[in-house]
Amino acid sequence: MTDHMPSPSDAQADLIAYLDFHVEAGADAALDEHPHDRFSEADTPAPTLRAPRRAPPRIAESSATPVANTLVPPPGSAPPPASSSAAPRTFGRAASAQPDEAASDARARARQAKSLDELERILADFDACPLRFTAKNLVFADGNPEARVMFLGEAPGADEDRIGKPFMGRSGQLLDKMMKAIGLDRTSAYIGNIVPWRPPGNRNPTPQEVAVCRPFVERQIELVDPDIIVCLGAPATQTLTGSKDGILRTRGRLFPYKLPNREVKLLATLHPAFLLRQPVQKRLAWRDFRALRALIDGKA
Ligand code: URA
Repeated sequence: MTDHMPSPSDAQADLIAYLDFHVEAGADAALDEHPHDRFSEADTPAPTLRAPRRAPPRIAESSATPVANTLVPPPGSAPPPASSSAAPRTFGRAASAQPDEAASDARARARQAKSLDELERILADFDACPLRFTAKNLVFADGNPEARVMFLGEAPGADEDRIGKPFMGRSGQLLDKMMKAIGLDRTSAYIGNIVPWRPPGNRNPTPQEVAVCRPFVERQIELVDPDIIVCLGAPATQTLTGSKDGILRTRGRLFPYKLPNREVKLLATLHPAFLLRQPVQKRLAWRDFRALRALIDGKA
């Protein structure tokens, strides 16, 4: 029998793999010290149980129907109350900070950054967003900060979390191809996300998480100072424009985006992850990318 007993290090590795599996599946916090056998419990909930949490909505890109992610608050609006059932259980300061306090703290800190490097350092130290405790890496940006075009996605996935850069997985490969088709690459474009940490299990970031991260991405845009912002998908578009429309309504549209000293153009288009699921929609994205090329060339 002892032949088959795992050595302590094997047992540790098994335990870590088991925990990783649960984090991957979206379990972002331990609820109790001991496991519970829910099957042996009576139907009536124990008095100490919290109200059940609602699952967050699926991302707009996961559906052909334009799903207005109305949970993303428009710029300037107050974040939802702390008691919202969508708020995940969290660690560290993120556990105690009220979402609006965390968002105003984020705004104050983001404003302090005088350069992208400084912003990245401030973000790396920022502990009021629960996502940083489940993510492996901060995913700040890739590409050329001097570029005229800045692409923004929603949030990193597993590949980006592992590597620490945005758009590294299959969506990233498609984005690279789309950029290449109009003569862009990561030396001539800058790429970021609305939320710089991977939500566990690739769930949608909650409205609170978006509200807390938004000051940082807004400061990142100010520091890059691009001529054209390209929002990939509904969450990025809705967060930066305040529009509640689904991406199939907003794609191809140009929105004004205010920088401190000027107004630039924001183009909404489809997220590459959506195009991987709905390749037939690539023709629409192609139209948007041609419009982007014309904008870059000053012909639009
Ligand atoms: N999807 C995103 O929105 N961002 C990434 O970085 C990767 C996939």
